[in-house]
Amino acid sequence: EELTVIRKFEHIEHCLKKQVEAHVSTQFENIHFVHTSLPEIDKEEIDLSIEFLGRRFDYPIMIAGMTGGTKGSQIAGKINKTLAKAAQELNIPMGVGSQRAMIRKPETWESYYVRDVAPDIFLVGNLGAPQFAENMPNRYGVEEALKAVETIQADALAIHMNPLQESVQPEGDTQYKGVINALAELKSELSYPIIAKETGAGVSMEVAIKLESIGIDAIDVGGLGGTSWSGVEYYRAKDERSRNLALKFWDWGIPTALSVAEVRYATTLPIIATGGIRDGIAIAKALTLGANLAGVALPLLKPAVNGDVEGVIKILQRYIDELKNAMFLVGARNVEELKKVPLVVTGFAREWLEQRIDLWEFLKDRR
Ligand code: FNR
Repeated sequence: EELTVIRKFEHIEHCLKKQVEAHVSTQFENIHFVHTSLPEIDKEEIDLSIEFLGRRFDYPIMIAGMTGGTKGSQIAGKINKTLAKAAQELNIPMGVGSQRAMIRKPETWESYYVRDVAPDIFLVGNLGAPQFAENMPNRYGVEEALKAVETIQADALAIHMNPLQESVQPEGDTQYKGVINALAELKSELSYPIIAKETGAGVSMEVAIKLESIGIDAIDVGGLGGTSWSGVEYYRAKDERSRNLALKFWDWGIPTALSVAEVRYATTLPIIATGGIRDGIAIAKALTLGANLAGVALPLLKPAVNGDVEGVIKILQRYIDELKNAMFLVGARNVEELKKVPLVVTGFAREWLEQRIDLWEFLKDRR
């Protein structure tokens, strides 16, 4: 019973102290803007606001879900409240980490609760896809989903898809059979929007098409190039055999930039580009590739653990400055205009996308 809570604490520890990021890139370095010498706009008129799932946000950035449930140390509650204060100040959405611990131990609910400090933010709850699988004992259904959302007064529910992490974790939940059907059923019963969310290995167009067909409201591609959950599990592994498996799959997945392109090519679903977003230029490229907003997790963990709201805002403000500057240099007055500027795709990204989508058609749509 305590396992979930301890595991979440170990994850935070390793994410703070160890190198847990992928050794390969998001591929945003192979996506290029074409510089505009005559932007024909004033930098100060640039509007970064966007609409997503019926709500308006000041910036196309989301704080991705990380934690909750570590009651004893109060660490999760502090992290979530710190992130929430920053989200409230910037008027951007935020997710909490997996609420599995809360479903098992309802008394941990406060570590996810942020409405007292963030009354207005768009808040996203979080449960794991394997919990809904056919062969999961005590599998979740609409009751658990409702509890996750309503206990913390969230606006939407993220269902995280993490087969990579579960597969390299000795105690992992590797039953994924029947998840699509369960999500379809959940979608028909739950009145809150559902976001299907990867956690660092990316979403392919095939999976995105399935998710769109069952009515899922948005996809967070959670692509490769940032936090590697196989990497995190490598540090948690207790023996040679598990260490080897985690190491081999450290860099498994679909790079974030390519996942955004695939999902945008194949569906009209709103997209959150998460995974290795480390500056505002990458955010600008993600938006031009078709994302509606970008998500950030790991860089915000350190200031959040220290309760440093200003530290969280400072990082996000830097991203915002860089995003705005990139928009100025391609002459985009707002995010709608940014979506139409030309891109050049080179190297590995080009090779991948040429084999997966009609790249030229896709790029032509963007100007
Ligand atoms: C996460 N992430 C995550 N995702 C999720 O859906 N449920 C969860 O409980 C967690 N927990 C969690 C803890 C910590 C410490 C980190 C850093 C991340 C995944 C996160 O939302 C995101 O998808 C990935 O971390 C990729 O983004 P970054 O970290 O590369 O910006």
